[in-house]
Amino acid sequence: MQTSMHYSCFIQSIVLLFIVIFSVPVQCQLDEDLYDDTCPNLTKLVRYGVWSAIRNETRMAASLLRLHFHDCFVNGCDGSILLDDTSTLKGEKNASPNRNSVRGFEVIDDIKASIEKVCPSTVSCVDILTLAAREAVYLTGGPYWSVALGRRDGTTASESAANEQIPGPSESLPVITAKFTSKGLNAKDVVVLSGAHTIGFAQCFTFKQRLFNFKSSGKPDPALDSSLLQGLTSLCPNSDASDNQLAPLDPVTTNKFDNVYFKNLLNNSGLLESDQALMGDSDAASMVENYSKYPYQFFKDFGASMVKMANIGVLTGDEGQIRKNCRAVN
Ligand code: HEM
Ligand SMILES: *[C@@H]1O[C@H](CO)[C@@H](O)[C@H](O)[C@H]1NC(C)=O
Ligand SMILES: *[C@@H]1O[C@H](CO)[C@@H](O)[C@H](O)[C@H]1NC(C)=O
Ligand SMILES: *[C@@H]1O[C@H](CO)[C@@H](O)[C@H](O)[C@H]1NC(C)=O
Ligand SMILES: *[C@@H]1O[C@H](CO)[C@@H](O)[C@H](O)[C@H]1NC(C)=O
Repeated sequence: MQTSMHYSCFIQSIVLLFIVIFSVPVQCQLDEDLYDDTCPNLTKLVRYGVWSAIRNETRMAASLLRLHFHDCFVNGCDGSILLDDTSTLKGEKNASPNRNSVRGFEVIDDIKASIEKVCPSTVSCVDILTLAAREAVYLTGGPYWSVALGRRDGTTASESAANEQIPGPSESLPVITAKFTSKGLNAKDVVVLSGAHTIGFAQCFTFKQRLFNFKSSGKPDPALDSSLLQGLTSLCPNSDASDNQLAPLDPVTTNKFDNVYFKNLLNNSGLLESDQALMGDSDAASMVENYSKYPYQFFKDFGASMVKMANIGVLTGDEGQIRKNCRAVN
């Protein structure tokens, strides 16, 4: 009797030990199947929302992808970019890389509303944004990858961090790479993720310095193809009035997620200075050549780098919250 009590006690403590050991990490990690029971139609709802937005305006795929990137680079992927400014919170929407530039907030609002209807207060805004970026790439012809879920929404945002930490189009490759490295990404991720510029548009002011008086030379950027230069100068004449005109980041297959971005770089047809700068570094340039030849390799690596990016500084477990409205803290 004595022994058997000891024995069952021993079993109990082993079981308890296992529960303690395994339940803690499980709670804190992201999990692909997290909403299988609590919100089984989640992926379908996100896909439908992204699909209808793209059907209305093809560019929205690019905008959602960029929105996710700008969220993850500031305070981690925590939906901070989705928060509207309040009297006590100066958010990220008006930071210089974002103001009059990032788009897609209404699409995320609509998807969130459709999800709140069937599984209220269950899925975070940041998980929705992460899934929306994946669907956007897939629906424009790009790769598909698994997204682990369970990110929680942040309760703060930072305009100054957005100004300082999001890479700019005129920054040098070493500066951009340092910004990626500080987020746990590497030089390869810079090349791979720059491939996102195979879809979407940029406003003239983001690359105009290449057209007229590049680095005070009085001449255009020599690393810009002359016929592309001609087209861009007529789209973006040298006056502030043209600043918000839109040029395609990939002029060849603008709305298709493919590897043509890399082919463009090989013939000096990158739009942003930061795009073409990849050719100025031998390691980056050899990756560009590789991806221009092997679209499948690009797709595979893009999915892997997106997974890394989507894991930057995530809140899990009891951290943060599940926002009811993506624009405001509960
Ligand atoms: C490597 C450093 C990067 C720089 C310097 C950069 C810069 C820019 C700039 C200046 C624009 C145009 C914005 C405007 O004119 O309003 C843009 C657009 C875009 N960026 Fe990047 N970007 C970078 C990396 C990325 C990454 C990592 C992604 C996503 C994985 C991304 C996705 C996009 C997309 C899809 C667009 C088009 C958005 C639209 O049409 O609405 N970019 N980027
Ligand atoms: C999921 O969507 C299907 C239709 O696509 C519907 O029949 C089903 O009831 C939905 N399930 C839940 C839990 O909302
Ligand atoms: C459709 O796209 C246009 C821009 O092309 C936008 O102004 C409009 O709000 C969109 N409509 C819906 C329902 O999303
Ligand atoms: C550059 O390459 C692209 C795709 O490979 C091609 O379609 C385009 O015409 C080329 N542009 C120039 C100016 O050679
Ligand atoms: C080029 O691609 C091949 C496979 O397609 C890969 O094994 C190799 O590491 C790549 N090289 C570079 C420099 O990216």
